[in-house]
Amino acid sequence: MTNVLRLAIVDPNDAHREALKKMLLGMDMCWLEAESSRYEFFVDIVGQTHPEVAVIGIDADPNKALQLIHNLREAAPECAILVVSSSTDGQLILKAMRAGAKEFLTQPIGIEELVLAMERIGAHRGGAGLGRSRKCQMVAVAGVTGGVGSTSLAVNLGCALASNASHTVALVDLDLSLGDADVLLDTIPDYTIVDVVQNIARLDFQLLKRSMTKHSSGLYLLPRPVQLQDISLITPDDLQRVFGLLKATFSHVIIDLSKAYNRVDMTALQAANQVLLVTHLDLPCLRNGVRLLMSFDAVEGLKEKVQIVVNRIGLDNGHISLKKAQETIGRDIYWRLPNDYRAMVEMRNNGVPLIEQAPRAAITQAIVALAEELSGTERAEEDTGDTKGRWLAFWGKNKAKT
Ligand SMILES: Nc1ncnc2c1ncn2[C@@H]1O[C@H](COP(=O)(O)OP(=O)(O)O)[C@@H](O)[C@H]1O
Ligand SMILES: [Mg+2]
Repeated sequence: MTNVLRLAIVDPNDAHREALKKMLLGMDMCWLEAESSRYEFFVDIVGQTHPEVAVIGIDADPNKALQLIHNLREAAPECAILVVSSSTDGQLILKAMRAGAKEFLTQPIGIEELVLAMERIGAHRGGAGLGRSRKCQMVAVAGVTGGVGSTSLAVNLGCALASNASHTVALVDLDLSLGDADVLLDTIPDYTIVDVVQNIARLDFQLLKRSMTKHSSGLYLLPRPVQLQDISLITPDDLQRVFGLLKATFSHVIIDLSKAYNRVDMTALQAANQVLLVTHLDLPCLRNGVRLLMSFDAVEGLKEKVQIVVNRIGLDNGHISLKKAQETIGRDIYWRLPNDYRAMVEMRNNGVPLIEQAPRAAITQAIVALAEELSGTERAEEDTGDTKGRWLAFWGKNKAKT
């Protein structure tokens, strides 16, 4: 549990404490180490449990709480103090900060505000907080043209990742007009990305999860809008905020992009840690791949995140060799997925993911191995904390594979 931010909460008001707990624990990376309803015991509790963050609700008795903040600062200077109050009184905020609080949040707490406060705490702690402690792996799945298998990969990768109990995985269908991730998962969603965007200010982590459709594999789906007219309600700015919440809530977020490479898609490409660009081994696909990579040059840091995934290997369509494809695109092939028409068609028609529908098929094994590789990458990131090293290690692995 070293990558989880450990908290202790004190608030004599049971209802407030419960609400606070619910909100904080909805964040995948928060772990409740201890809680208390008594200010006077809290310094001892922190001394025994060593949380990284002490969350103090001060409304029940502000004076006692201020004394607690002061004492805690002395007794456990390494523990960051986050104060929660319904008061907006400047004097009180000042006193709390002077006593040693790092952050002051006013009730009702907005989810974004909370995430930002946690991130600031993390930054102060030299990377031990949210910013780095439990990094969300956000993977955008893009394709060089329609029908290359991006959605098939995104859905099955999501399910494969979700099959690991230590992961919480979300799939966002950003093919806003024609997305079919819900069909592939045989789900009828109650809400879509439009509902989440429109209610973002009111959402807490629990509500966010409840607005998504949970598949039996454990994967949470955020589907595309029902009506085409609603697409215009989703702006890149809104999307940034949705991504922020998803990152704070899930260990993995998979985004299935449209093939329009519009502003919405570009927002996702920028937000992602990694981009899987799916292609076939034929000339039109490779040509588009080269074009896309050239265009990605204009966005700082994007090209470096892109990994080439060749799908439907073995499909007899007069295809180009892997070596030739590598030369054409000018980079290594990161992953290879075999052609398996039958498994894919059955998966799509039955709405059952490959790990259930065809667990032993080569295509399933390749996707499961990719899920493991992505989780491994995430661990390597945490171990080194070094972006450059991470990518170099990645490429090294690749070269050995292809
Ligand atoms: N590895 C594969 N083997 C066989 N068929 C595949 C494979 N991957 C995808 N397909 C088929 O390709 C078609 C397009 O897949 P889809 O995931 O919808 O592509 P995209 O999202 O890129 O438009 C589907 O009919 C799917 O069954
Ligand atoms: Mg698709």
